Amino acid sequence: MSSQVLDRTLVMDAVRVTEAAAIAAWSLAGRGDEKAADQAAVDAMRSALNELAVDGIIVIGEGERDEAPMLYIGEKVGRGGGPRIDIALDPLEGTTLAAKAMANALAVMAWAPAGTLLNAPDTYMDKIACGPGYPAGLLDLDASAADNARALASAKGVDTSEINVCVLDRPRHADIIASLRGAGARVHLITDGDIAGVINTADPDTGVDMYVGRGGAPEGVLACAALKCVGGQFQGRLVFRNADERARARVHGITDLDKKYDLHEMVRADAIFVATGVTTGALLDGVRLANGFVHTHTLVMNSSTCTVRQVRMKRRL
Ligand code: FBP
Repeated sequence: MSSQVLDRTLVMDAVRVTEAAAIAAWSLAGRGDEKAADQAAVDAMRSALNELAVDGIIVIGEGERDEAPMLYIGEKVGRGGGPRIDIALDPLEGTTLAAKAMANALAVMAWAPAGTLLNAPDTYMDKIACGPGYPAGLLDLDASAADNARALASAKGVDTSEINVCVLDRPRHADIIASLRGAGARVHLITDGDIAGVINTADPDTGVDMYVGRGGAPEGVLACAALKCVGGQFQGRLVFRNADERARARVHGITDLDKKYDLHEMVRADAIFVATGVTTGALLDGVRLANGFVHTHTLVMNSSTCTVRQVRMKRRL
C-alpha cells in the first residue's frame, strides 16, 4: 500500500518543507536564542506544509496540544485532497547547536501512510543502532554496550578496537562510555543531534559503526524512518521518568511500556525522510548566502524506491 500512498512526486514537496524550515532557523543561528530559532523553523515548516495537497496528521511534533500551539501531536496539516499521511517532524533538530551556530543543526521530517508511524510520546528512549549488512537481531539493549560492540566487531570481522561508537555526551552515559572504552572501542561523543548520530551508522564515510544511548523518543522515530530507507538495525525502548509520562504513553495507545521496538515496529510502512542542513555538519552543508542567493543542502530518501538523493537548492533572495 505504501508506495502508492507515498507517490514519488511527493518527495520534492517534502524537500520544500525542510528547506523552508532550515532557512528560517538559520536566519537566527548564532544569536543565542534557542526558542526564537525553533519558533522560526516551526512557523516556516507549518506554512510550507499547509500549502501542500496532502491530508496530514502530526504524530511526532512539537509536543502535546496543551503545550505546543503549532505542529502539536494530532494537528492536521495540508490543504487536503491528497494522500492521508502520518508526519513526524523536528523543525529544528539541535536547537542549542543552531543558537550557538555549532555544526550539525538540521530541519527534519518523515512521511508515511496514515497509521504507520509509532505515536511516541515526548519522553526519552534508550536506543541502539548500526548500519546495514549485519545479521538480524545483532544488537540488544539488554546486553552491555561492550557486548554489543564485541558482537558488531565479530560480525564485521574486525577487532573491537576498530569499532567506532557514537554517544551523546551526557553524564547519564558515563557507564556506557566506560563500558565501550573498557572493551577497546572508540567513542565519538556528540553534544546534540542523535538523529544524525544514528544515520551516520549507515554511511561508511562517517566511520561510525554503532550508536548507543538515551535521547528523545521523537528523534528515535525520525531516525528509524531514515534507516528504513538506507537499511540498518535499530532497537528502542521508551523511558518514563514519572507517572505523567506513563499516562501520556497510554493516551498514545502504548500498552506495553517496557517493549523493545525494532525499526519496522516504529515505522510500519514505506517512508520518505528529508533533512536540510541548518548549520554545516558531517551529514549536510548548512544554509549559505552568496551573491544574492540562498543555498540549501537536503538529504531526501524514499524507502519504497530505495532512493537516496542529495538536493542542492539555490534561490535568488
Ligand atoms: P533539541 O533539538 O530538542 O534541542 O534536541 C536535541 C537533542 O540532542 C536530540 O538530538 C536528542 O535526542 C536529545 O536532544 C537529547 O536530550 P537531552 O538534551 O535532554 O539529553
